[in-house]
Amino acid sequence: MCGIVGYIGKKEKITKIISCLENLEYRGYDSSGIAYLDDGKINIIKKTGRIKNLKDFISDTETSLAITHTRWATHGQANDINAHPHSVGKITIVHNGIIENYQELKNKLQELGIIFKTETDTEVAAALLNKLYNDKNDILKAILAFEKIARGSYAIAIIVEGNNNLYVVKKDSPLIIGLKNDGYYIASDVPAILKETNRYITLEDYEFAEIKEEKLTIYNNKMEIVNYEVKAFESGVEQIDKGNYEHFMLKEINEEDTVIKNTFNYYFEHFDEIIDITKYKNIEIIACGSAYNVGLIGKNLIEENLDIKTDVYLASEYRYQKQFTEKETLVIAISQSGETADTLAAIKIANKKATTLSIVNVIDSSIARESKQVLYTKAGIEIAVATTKAYISQLVVLTMLVIKGLKVKEQLNDEKSLLSEIENLPKLVRNLIEKDDYKKIAEKIYKSNDMYFIGRGIDASIAREASLKMKEVSYVHSEYYAAGELKHGTISLIEEKTPVIGIISDINILPKTMSNIKETASRGANIIIVTSEDISKENYKYVINISKVNKLLQPILLVIPFQLLAYETAKLRGCSIDKPRNLAKSVTVE
Ligand code: G6P
Repeated sequence: MCGIVGYIGKKEKITKIISCLENLEYRGYDSSGIAYLDDGKINIIKKTGRIKNLKDFISDTETSLAITHTRWATHGQANDINAHPHSVGKITIVHNGIIENYQELKNKLQELGIIFKTETDTEVAAALLNKLYNDKNDILKAILAFEKIARGSYAIAIIVEGNNNLYVVKKDSPLIIGLKNDGYYIASDVPAILKETNRYITLEDYEFAEIKEEKLTIYNNKMEIVNYEVKAFESGVEQIDKGNYEHFMLKEINEEDTVIKNTFNYYFEHFDEIIDITKYKNIEIIACGSAYNVGLIGKNLIEENLDIKTDVYLASEYRYQKQFTEKETLVIAISQSGETADTLAAIKIANKKATTLSIVNVIDSSIARESKQVLYTKAGIEIAVATTKAYISQLVVLTMLVIKGLKVKEQLNDEKSLLSEIENLPKLVRNLIEKDDYKKIAEKIYKSNDMYFIGRGIDASIAREASLKMKEVSYVHSEYYAAGELKHGTISLIEEKTPVIGIISDINILPKTMSNIKETASRGANIIIVTSEDISKENYKYVINISKVNKLLQPILLVIPFQLLAYETAKLRGCSIDKPRNLAKSVTVE
């Protein structure tokens, strides 16, 4: 995690550079810092907590060279001293990633008499670079040597005392270089600097760059100059603006009808781009967090409709368990950011054995580039840490994979009516978003310490995402449960007024889930039901009705009430909705 922004050019206000860094707060907000050239001297300011704390210490000065950083603490507590930038000798750096052999390097450097002030692996990287720079008297040679010694992942921006250039190097952590007419920005992603420029270059692993005010040179790990491609980022600046919404999460939920429409439209127009998954003997889906929850729904849709065995793995576990991946397997990685370290590592392993496909939101991201094939979701930039519209667009892409499979197998029954339901879906989504149930129900449950989300079959996977969303943004402890499993232990936790949220999207399982709901109601639970079925006879007070649609499309509608319920609950609890405590959106450490 962690976010980096840097600048070199004619002159830029420090406040402007920091405002770019604020766009990266989704990567972590334990502390932040800046090093900038001030009258020929490097000035460093670092502060614990959010970037707004740093801003209190920043004047309106201009600079020709700066590196800035927002931290998600890994090695060492979140405090001023461990905040980046870190300086050793003539070298000052900011770093995203983890230097895995830092302890071994630290021991060696300590033997040489270097005294460390912090607990971070980044200070070790700075000390190593400084030593190599002293030995070689050439910063480019020092960076090259650093690449050979340091293990792990890094995107590092470097300033050297007495030298007015900016240097960057990267391996397994993203870094882009943005081009302006009068200078360059560097950043962990393009949206961070979108207000400054949309033209950018993606640095590849082991490449490093020397950036002068008017000249950029990129080298490979043989110190050869490489040609680079300048790309243009398509999304508009409005995507990184909250507009009239109080939070990005609410804005992004409100974009879901458009996202669904855009993603379906794109893939119907580019039907050939969708791979035929029926060619494969089995499928493995690898993902983390909400993307894993999407994978579980994907498993259900693929197995039910195409009869292909599908396993879903947490990417962080995939490497450490027996893998049955073989040549005839299709491995699908799902990731909004395309940078999640565990998913990236898993796809690298899978690449050696099988065909890999990624479903990714961020164009040109590491997972997209690593996979043999990629299908982009059309969610646009997602800023709130808790994913909503990107989750929905991942569901749409998986649905399209199933539709394509059914078409190939000539089993797409009543295509015309499915297409007309897809066309009508954004309208149903809009109606669902605009319902006034969520706030009313949130008012009844927001003081609870625990909640339980239950369902059967595909509803259990929705329950899993519903529970995660609630935990992430409202900090209420919640769990999801396969409804039938509840009485095998967890029901002992149900007390008077504990919210139990039941999900029912299938008439065939309605009686069973309803029995499970009643079991908890008899023990005092406060029942809320989200359903596409008619349960008017059941007489429950809190029921959110959703439209009944084709089974392939039902999960898309089902999840939306839970996103809004989590949002409203978090709001009543006064939580930091867009940047929840301790969470980061792009998890680039394993
Ligand atoms: C983090 C985010 C989650 C996200 C997960 C996977 O934990 O907070 O919202 O689902 O990472 O991220 P990815 O970018 O791979 O979808």
